[in-house]
Amino acid sequence: MKTLKKIGVLTSGGDSSGMNAAIRAVVRKALRAGLEVIGIQRGYAGLIDNDFQPLSSRSVGDSLQRGGTILKTARSAEFLQTAGRKKALENLQKAGVDGLIVIGGDGTFRGAVELLKMGCRVIGIPGTIDNDLIGTDFTLGFDTALNVVLDAIKKIRDTASAMERAFIIEVMGRASGWLALAAGLAGGAETIIIPEVPVDLEKICQSLLQAHQSGKTHSIIILAEGAGSAYELSQQIKGKIGFELKITVLGHLQRGGAPSVFDRFLGSYLGASAVDLLLKGASGKMVGLIGNQLEVTDLEKVIATKRKIDLKLFQLAEILDRPYKI
Ligand code: F6P
Repeated sequence: MKTLKKIGVLTSGGDSSGMNAAIRAVVRKALRAGLEVIGIQRGYAGLIDNDFQPLSSRSVGDSLQRGGTILKTARSAEFLQTAGRKKALENLQKAGVDGLIVIGGDGTFRGAVELLKMGCRVIGIPGTIDNDLIGTDFTLGFDTALNVVLDAIKKIRDTASAMERAFIIEVMGRASGWLALAAGLAGGAETIIIPEVPVDLEKICQSLLQAHQSGKTHSIIILAEGAGSAYELSQQIKGKIGFELKITVLGHLQRGGAPSVFDRFLGSYLGASAVDLLLKGASGKMVGLIGNQLEVTDLEKVIATKRKIDLKLFQLAEILDRPYKI
């Protein structure tokens, strides 16, 4: 196996808070190990366009506490084509990059597996607010996004109580209900609707109606985007729940903001661990954290396995937050 001298790092797909902590850790850990580090701008798009620049310890200074990604990110249609991937690999080879660290979600890892098949040494760091990957309890950015949603719930509850209204708060998560479930549980939402659990709208309406009739001053419904749109849901339940109904779609707010303490820790730890793995000669792996222990999972397994929701948490939320059992 070729000795590792120069590594590349990129972020791809939807940005998530904590990516900068991971980049910083990759750079500083690798430099300390005597490696050179190349930053690739705009993910796989920059790989194809040869948008490379050497990274120094200074170049990642003042980034730990910032949201977004200093390397920028993109979703590259060209990289989905064989010709695009060939160009990307050629650029890596020309630059003498002999190991690549990619930070992103399942789309990013699909790309990484393609590069792996073409002979590239690659390690993945899970970065997405969706928390929809196996091999780690938490993905980078999930905790920060969760805190954004909780802050929104708190504010919406103030106005909801003041005007005795119900709110549907639509949260991101793509096809996964993790963000909605965790936010609903931690935020005390009366109802959580996620794609993994079949919805009984009649039951939900009856429960909210009873709550209203008993004098409850507000209701919060957390809806995962993967389970439908807030606008459609509001049409279906309007007039059936006692409360006047309003909608808030949180959208990309959930992707921004300074990373939480946890995401700074997670990014730092996984970034450094990814470099360790490359130094040990590993490739085709994702680093994650399970129960405070580093977990290493094959990237191919990560992209082939759908992460399940913890149904016990959903049931717990129902017990704690739904005032009326129907
Ligand atoms: O995967 C992260 C995510 O924020 C999803 O929750 C959301 O569905 C999607 O990306 C939005 O993508 P874009 O920023 O390209 O609109």
